[in-house]
Amino acid sequence: MRMSRIGVAVVTGGGHGIGRALCRRLARDGTKVVVVDIDEAAASTVASDIGGTARALDVSDEQAVARLVDEVEQTEGPIDMFISNAGVGYGDGAAGAISAEGGMNPIDDRWDACWRINVMAHVYAARAVVPRMLQRGGGHLVNTASAAGLLSQIGDSAYSATKHAAVGFAESLAIDYGEAGIVVSVVCPQAVATRMIGIEDDSESLEGGFRGNDVDGIMRPEAVADIVIDEALAGRFLILTHPEVTTYVQRKASDHNRWIRGMQRFRQKLSS
Ligand SMILES: NC(=O)c1ccc[n+]([C@@H]2O[C@H](COP(=O)([O-])OP(=O)(O)OC[C@H]3O[C@@H](n4cnc5c(N)ncnc54)[C@H](O)[C@@H]3O)[C@@H](O)[C@H]2O)c1
Repeated sequence: MRMSRIGVAVVTGGGHGIGRALCRRLARDGTKVVVVDIDEAAASTVASDIGGTARALDVSDEQAVARLVDEVEQTEGPIDMFISNAGVGYGDGAAGAISAEGGMNPIDDRWDACWRINVMAHVYAARAVVPRMLQRGGGHLVNTASAAGLLSQIGDSAYSATKHAAVGFAESLAIDYGEAGIVVSVVCPQAVATRMIGIEDDSESLEGGFRGNDVDGIMRPEAVADIVIDEALAGRFLILTHPEVTTYVQRKASDHNRWIRGMQRFRQKLSS
C-alpha cells in the first residue's frame, strides 16, 4: 500500500533534531502533526511553530504511549503515520573507540535506556497503533534506527546492538503485517547534524562541536527529513539517507570477516 496523503502523524522525539525536521516537513505537506517529546518545552515550541499539538511523555512508558494513541485518535482523528524517532546514544565517538570502558559500555543504566528507548518504544507504539490501523485497512509506521543498526557504531556497543534490534523489529512488522496494509519503513542514517553528535539545533556549522566518529557526509536534519517522508510515502522499507551506506552494507554482506578487519583498521585510525 502506498499513501499519497498523511492526515494525522505522530512524531516522537519531535522536539529536536531529525524529529523536529520531520514535524516541519509534514506540516508543510498539510498534515496534522502531534509533536511528542520528553522535553516538554521543545515539543511545545515546535508545535506552536508549525500549528501542531504537543505531548510530553516518555516513549518507553507503555501506558503513556497507549494513552497518547487513544487521545490523539479521539481529538485529531485516525493516526495515518506513527514515526518512532526518539532515540538515545551514549558513545563518546572516537574517544569511546579507544577506551576499553567506552567500547563495552559498563553502565547498565545506559544499556537499559538504549533498550527501552531505541527498541521497546517501537514495540509499544506498534502494539498501540497497529490494531487500530488494521481495523481501518492500513497505516504507516516509520521507525528511526541508524546505519549503526546495519553496520556498527564504533565505541558504542549498546547503541549498535539496540539499533540492530530496531531494524530486526521493523523487519518482523513488515513481514507480519505488510499484506494487511501496514506499511513499515526503517530509517538508517549515518551522521546527521543534531545534538546527538554534539551539534545544537539551528547551528550553522556542521563541524562545530562534532565529537563523533570521523565519518563522511554529515547531513542536515532537513535534508534527511525530506528523504524520509518522500521514501516512506513511496512505500520503501529500508530508507538509507546517506548513499554511501548502501555500499558499506553490500561490502559487509559480501564478506563479513573482511568487513570486521576493515572496521578494526578504521578504529585504529580513529585512535591514533
Ligand atoms: N544524529 C545522528 O547522527 C543520527 C544518526 C543515525 C540515527 N539517528 C537517530 O535519529 C533519531 C533522532 O535523533 P537526533 O539525531 O535527532 O537526536 P536529538 O538528540 O536531536 O533528538 C532526539 C529527541 O528524542 C527525544 N527523546 C529522548 N528520549 C526520549 C524519551 N524517552 N521519550 C520521548 N522523547 C525522547 C529528545 O528529547 C530529543 O528531542 C534517534 O533515534 C537517533 O538514534 C541519529
